[in-house]
Amino acid sequence: MISWLEPVIPHLKALHVIALALWVGGLFGLPVMLARHDPAIGQADYTRIRLASHVSYVWIITPAAVTAIVAGTWLIFLREVFTVWMFAKLVFVALLIGFHAWIGHHIVKVGESDGRHQTPRPIGPLLILLVPVLVILTLVLLKPELEEIPMPDWLTQPRERQLPVSEVPRW
Ligand code: HEM
Repeated sequence: MISWLEPVIPHLKALHVIALALWVGGLFGLPVMLARHDPAIGQADYTRIRLASHVSYVWIITPAAVTAIVAGTWLIFLREVFTVWMFAKLVFVALLIGFHAWIGHHIVKVGESDGRHQTPRPIGPLLILLVPVLVILTLVLLKPELEEIPMPDWLTQPRERQLPVSEVPRW
């Protein structure tokens, strides 16, 4: 690792943890907010809850997700955690991203459907979300030795190959 980058690691980790707290907290909050998208609550309240869920998804939760992923990706290389628990963690992060996209789908549908879109009841999605979050936290905090699980070489060993040099077109 480049030595002058070492002091950056704690800051990057703090950024990662703050961003993922916002991201995961938001993913828990949004299904509850979506369940309140009921036209029966009245026009003013309906508009308020719709705006709140839309704004928090677009301006807080999605940027937090991107920040957590970018900071986490940097951390992989700076901390050199090319380990099985990290690969397992990434599989569960992919599930979290799928959940994020599914919530986004409902937010768009609610916005486009004149109060007719049926939003899911929150309990099922919240229980489903709990699984990847708990597994990720267990993996990252316990860092279990999973090295007996066979992994292909290209995931654990440097390939020592030159990156392809792309041709720059001349105009
Ligand atoms: C693509 C997404 C992610 C990547 C690439 C990533 C990567 C990383 C890396 C490399 C570390 C440093 C590990 C170390 O220093 O040993 C880390 C720390 C951490 N990550 Fe992630 N992470 C991601 C998403 C998440 C998510 C979604 C959660 C929680 C739900 C999470 C929870 C944590 C925690 C709590 C730490 C601090 C662990 C410690 O310092 O012992 N990460 N992450």
